Amino acid sequence: MITTAPASGSGEFRFTDDDFRSLAQLAHAEFGLALAESKKPLVYSRIARRLRARNITDFTSYMALLKSPGEAEERLELISALTTNVTSFFREKHHFDTLRKELVPQFEKQPRVRIWSAGCSSGQEAFSIAMTLSDTLSETSLRNARILATDIDPAMIRKASAARYAREDLTTIPADMQKNGTRSCAEDPASFEIATPVQRMVTFGELNLIEAWPFKGPFDAIFCRNVAIYFDHQTQHRLWSRFTGLLRQGGLLFIGHSERVAGPALESLQSAGVTTYRKTVAPRPDPAR
Ligand SMILES: C[S@@+](CC[C@H](N)C(=O)[O-])C[C@H]1O[C@@H](n2cnc3c(N)ncnc32)[C@H](O)[C@@H]1O
Repeated sequence: MITTAPASGSGEFRFTDDDFRSLAQLAHAEFGLALAESKKPLVYSRIARRLRARNITDFTSYMALLKSPGEAEERLELISALTTNVTSFFREKHHFDTLRKELVPQFEKQPRVRIWSAGCSSGQEAFSIAMTLSDTLSETSLRNARILATDIDPAMIRKASAARYAREDLTTIPADMQKNGTRSCAEDPASFEIATPVQRMVTFGELNLIEAWPFKGPFDAIFCRNVAIYFDHQTQHRLWSRFTGLLRQGGLLFIGHSERVAGPALESLQSAGVTTYRKTVAPRPDPAR
């Protein structure tokens, strides 16, 4: 997830244990990130880029900058530097097969379909959901299907909203969905675009998952994959409970390949396949909310 880096002592900037702890506290309080001491050299390498970009010569001054009220954008640069935006169309394809087999037949009987891609990065996950629904749902059901896609990183939301990707990203989209769900890009032959009907199914927005959520659900499915991996256990448990509270009975939660649901949410979820959980009974209220 985080690339290799020079040892913090031998780098271009002084990076003390206190600097690391202060940065880790801020990243935890603002974004729920868990930065273990063992990550210090890796964090150094990521944050050194921000010091260079801002022409700052030491970490203590960078910490002071991060804490100033006018530096909300730099705090977002910090989370971008500490996490990765890696994603692809139909990543962990088995989840889209499960969506198709387990939920689509039920969707045909519902007045509306709502799915959330939480931590959507540059949008490939949300468009993969939209293409799967376009490929399987009747026209009437499709008209009532909406996908909400959120990420903390405004640069990713801008990229997702543009719905334009490099041609090599096409390779993981199944051929029939390439045909109906994408179009070539007249301005740039090295890129392709998502077809307008598929784009219209998705609404993108900025959202920090550890803050309040401005919607109530219920959702038929929530995809939150390869995001919670950055959070400490307590933050993860709370997130799983909050997602469970927003799922309808029988709805599915899809998580990343190296993640597991744990904590109180498990009382209301049962396994429904690889890194997939189905909501069974009403969850306990979250005492922290
Ligand atoms: C590795 S990408 C995962 C993208 C996609 N879900 C997938 O699995 O392909 C992780 C995303 O989580 C976002 N993220 C990290 N912390 C977040 C937070 N506190 N709230 C919302 N999004 C966050 C990052 O900006 C990044 O785009």
